[in-house]
Formats: sequence, structure tokens, C-alpha cells
Amino acid sequence: MAVADLRDSFGRPLRDLRISVTDRCNFRCTYCMPKEIFGKDFPFMPKDNIMTFEEIDRLAGIFISLGVKKIRLTGGEPLLRKNIHQLISMLSLRDVEVAMTTNGVLLPRYAPSLSAAGLDRITVSLDALDESTFATITDSGHTVAAVLAGIEAAESVGLGPIKINTVVKRDANEHEILQLVERFSDRDIAVRFIEYMDVGNTNGWSMDDVVSADEIRDVIGELSAIPANNPSDVSKNYRLPNGGEIGIISSVTEPFCGECTRARISSDGKLFTCLFSNRGLDILSLMRDGKDDTEISNLIKQIWKSREDRYSEIRSQKSSIANRVEMSYIGG
Ligand code: GTP
Ligand code: 5AD
Ligand code: SF4
Ligand code: SF4
Repeated sequence: MAVADLRDSFGRPLRDLRISVTDRCNFRCTYCMPKEIFGKDFPFMPKDNIMTFEEIDRLAGIFISLGVKKIRLTGGEPLLRKNIHQLISMLSLRDVEVAMTTNGVLLPRYAPSLSAAGLDRITVSLDALDESTFATITDSGHTVAAVLAGIEAAESVGLGPIKINTVVKRDANEHEILQLVERFSDRDIAVRFIEYMDVGNTNGWSMDDVVSADEIRDVIGELSAIPANNPSDVSKNYRLPNGGEIGIISSVTEPFCGECTRARISSDGKLFTCLFSNRGLDILSLMRDGKDDTEISNLIKQIWKSREDRYSEIRSQKSSIANRVEMSYIGG
């Protein structure tokens, strides 16, 4: 079957692949990996269950043959994966854009090797500029100064245009919105404000904690919409009066499932067709059992063709899905 023909049950093609390379992180953001649950006794994935770079690269090849144009490496924190630049070197030989989402603190050390290996772009998570607000959210002893140093390091080796992801949570960091806009708007760095989502089971999510896209726009003030480059972009982008750009990712109040072309692979090689899934196809076991590329590709096609996911559009009508996977496991 020609690549262009692969569509899910709502006609959505497969274009983006997000690969989690580790379920570990050096932060303990309260909305993602709360310390009470992800403490020192938490059963992180054993090394043997994690995909090797060769396995990831092989899977990438299969997905590219099915239409994927962009691969995003995520975690947990992808820079905790040893020698991650080697994986990037392998992927950069393929016909695909390679991006990464990171919390940024390891970028001063690794940005040069990532860039040399062929990483195209980087997105840095940063929820606050105020050190004490940041410390409360990330709960890990790392600092805003370290993240800012990471952003500078990435920029200096050409990993831009850099994007910043800011999850906005009521009473946690909504007072930081304007400062973040002001800090980056005169540079080629777009801050994207993300509505806090009900991913996973551990963050005690409540609708009351969501600062809506409307509220965020009101706080920022004058904005003019920039037309989307690509219908499947999750971020709605806006021009500020000074020429800077910001984005808003409103998966709760203005869901974008209708254009969702994203598949996700956990670090133990399971395929998830929605961020809110509770089970995934164990592709790693299939590979280790000796299935060839055609067999694996056929299974992925079958799954994609029958895909009906649109969780964010139906969240209010459905009682919650039990045992949803955690964001740190499936990647952001
Ligand atoms: P680029 O366009 O390549 O820069 O990436 P992106 O816009 O997809 O951004 P990124 O991967 O950084 O995603 C930003 C945030 O949007 C994530 O951290 C999630 O919070 C949210 N997000 C991304 N993809 C999805 C999705 O498929 N569903 C939902 N509900 N949220 C998503
Ligand atoms: N809601 C929205 N975004 C989230 N992220 C993690 N947990 C959530 C959540 N509950 C985002 C982080 C980071 C990426 C890895 O996922 O901000 O940018
Ligand atoms: Fe780590 Fe990112 Fe989750 Fe924070 S949001 S705990 S930085 S994976
Ligand atoms: Fe895609 Fe699921 Fe997110 Fe909807 S909720 S945009 S289907 S990942």
C-alpha cells in the first residue's frame, strides 16, 4: 500500500512519531512525576526492557515507510539516556526531521554533541522564571538559571528556533505568564502555554486547575493569530505587538484530535495511538521474537487503520479511562 493511503478510521494520516527513550527524569514536576509516587522505590523500567538504539532506529525506519515525517525524542528526560547523540546520528541518516523535548538542564553539557549528531530542533520545558515558583513545581533542586544556560547553549550551537513549553496550572504559575512572554518575545524563541491535562493517574488533575486558553490570551492582551503551517500542529500561534511569537496549546478547552497524526512509542517499545491510552502494542517483543519488518509494518497498519482515538474531544462525556499511562512513560 502506498504511504499516502494509510489513514485511520477518521481519515487521519500517520505523520509524527514520539519516541520515549527513558522513563526516568531528574525533575519531579508535581503534575507529571510527583515525588510521593516517583520516589526512590518506584519501579522504573529495567534496562533489558528498554529499546536499544538499533531497535529504535529499525522501528523509525518502519514508521517512516508508513508516512512519518517528524520524530520527537522524549522521556522522562531524554538527555538522561546514555550516549543519546549516537541515536541521533543514526536517525539523522534517515529522511525525517528529528526534534527533542527536554527540561534543559543537561544542555550545557550535551548541546554540542546533539547538534553535531544532526539534531534539527529542540523544545525546552520551563514553567516559571521565578526560582522559588520553579522549585515548587519541579521539586528537584535544579534551577531556572540552569535551564536558561541550557537554552543559551542550544542556541549557540544552532539548535534553534527553540520553543519553550510552559504548562500553566492554576495557583501554581499563572502569575508567570507575562514575565515569560516578556523575557523571550524579543528573541527568536516562542513560548507555548499548555493547558494542564489529565494525563496519567498520579497528578490529581481537576478541571479547576486548568487555566484555559481564553484566560491565557486575556492575560497576554493584544495578539494576532498566525495561520498554521500544518493542520496537525498542536499549538495555535500568535504575533505579539513587538513582533515576537507565542503559542497556546489548548488540548482541554479547544481539543485538536480531529487533526491528530501522532503515534507514540514508550521506552519499552509499546505503540500508543493516543496520549490517553491505557494499553499499547508490544512491538519490542515482536522484534525480539524475530518478526521481520513487513510483519511489524502490517501490524502497525492494522492498528492505525482501526484507530478511533479522540480522547480530548470526548473527555467530558466519558467517565475517566482507568490506568492511563503516565506522561513520563509515554513521552510528552
Ligand atoms: P513541534 O511542532 O514539532 O515543535 O512540536 P509540538 O508542537 O508537537 O510540540 P511538543 O511536542 O513540544 O508538544 C507540546 C505539548 O503539547 C506536549 O508537551 C503536550 O502537553 C501537548 N501535546 C502534544 N501532542 C499532543 C497530543 O497528541 N495530544 C494532546 N492532548 N496533547 C498533546
Ligand atoms: N499537562 C500538560 N502538559 C504536560 N507535560 C507533562 N505533563 C503534562 C500535563 N499534565 C508536558 C511538559 C513537557 C512535556 C514533556 O510534557 O511540560 O513540556
Ligand atoms: Fe520530567 Fe518533563 Fe515530567 Fe517534569 S514534565 S517530571 S521535566 S518529564
Ligand atoms: Fe491525539 Fe489523543 Fe491527543 Fe486527541 S487526545 S490529540 S487523539 S493524542
